[in-house]
Amino acid sequence: MQHRGTLFEPLQLPCGVTLKNRIAKSAMSDSLGDGTGHPTAEQIRLYQRWAAGGLAVSIIGEVQLTSGYAENPGNLVLNEASDLYRFRELARHGSENDTNLWLQLGHAGALAYAPTSRPKGPSALDLPGLHCAEISLDELRQLPSEFARTARLAQQAGFGGVQIHAARGFLLSQFLSPLFNKRNDEYGGAIANRMRPLLEAIDATRAAVGPDFPIAVKLNSSDQLEGGFDAEDALKVVAALDRSSVDLIDISGGTYFPGAKSASDGKGRGPYFLEFAKRARAETTKPVMLTGGFKTRAQAEDAVASGAVDIVGLARALVLEPSLPDLWKADRIPEPLFPRFPDAPEGGITAWYTMRLTEIGE
Ligand SMILES: Cc1cc2nc3c(=O)[nH]c(=O)nc-3n(C[C@H](O)[C@H](O)[C@H](O)COP(=O)(O)O)c2cc1C
Repeated sequence: MQHRGTLFEPLQLPCGVTLKNRIAKSAMSDSLGDGTGHPTAEQIRLYQRWAAGGLAVSIIGEVQLTSGYAENPGNLVLNEASDLYRFRELARHGSENDTNLWLQLGHAGALAYAPTSRPKGPSALDLPGLHCAEISLDELRQLPSEFARTARLAQQAGFGGVQIHAARGFLLSQFLSPLFNKRNDEYGGAIANRMRPLLEAIDATRAAVGPDFPIAVKLNSSDQLEGGFDAEDALKVVAALDRSSVDLIDISGGTYFPGAKSASDGKGRGPYFLEFAKRARAETTKPVMLTGGFKTRAQAEDAVASGAVDIVGLARALVLEPSLPDLWKADRIPEPLFPRFPDAPEGGITAWYTMRLTEIGE
């Protein structure tokens, strides 16, 4: 309670854009696209509802660069084949109430939705539940321009920024992770090589959108798996991001490698990656966003007041209560009640929240 002022103070990003407070809806894949990669009326209402609730930044999850590597068939796809008019409607309504509406730029790589794609990752893998081919050097060299093109179209359609997705086990996160990335060219091996696709994507995107447009990166603090991308690697990526043109580093965790736990299935109390955020703060002066496990206003206030975190990212809490920022601001407690799922099957909790998203949209 004592730090309340901080959560509702504006924040200026390095590109010059000012966010009205420190609360972001972290990226959620809502599965509400129309199947051709375009927004639907339900989806527009969902983002309009969040904008009305008082958050500063609202990030649409998993907007694909091409239809070939979607994470699910309901993803948005934004490229030169898209009808920009339909994206403009989404941008306009989701940006009401001075909300910054960003697109998370995604490429599912090895985890592309198999029925409609041919999954490709940094290296070919043939494991129970994970089969993928290796992405070629030519395709890899093409990738930065694909991020750049989708970001430029996002800007033209009226979105307020983009987030490059390098977390949670999708393509750029696969490159960071030795579990997925066994290459021995300049994109594999040492962490300096494994982060190359991410840095190239940032540089190309910045060149395409100019200096004034927010570019964020979502990064795992680790894979939380033996032999995976670890905290020491992640700190090196944070240091490299500090030297890049990004405006915000969004820290979270979790991956979809076979057997891994989902970060949104976490049972811990309070923010999951706060200790890592404190270590990241020592490596960067860029704004840091922390996502994962926030359930109460006190946790959000304390994280910002600690100085380690500039922006708090909320996913499930904003599904349970889309007006949470305004309610917090107006001292309207109780906090949302998080349902408990003692024996949920793999993916079951995410599926439950996805259904709530559909209900809000409807
Ligand atoms: C339904 C659902 C969909 C999600 N989709 C994405 C996504 O598309 N991209 C992403 O980076 N994270 C995604 N996440 C993860 C969230 O952004 C967040 O990192 C995670 O849920 C932890 O935050 P929380 O404790 O506030 O829920 C999703 C989470 C949920 C519950």
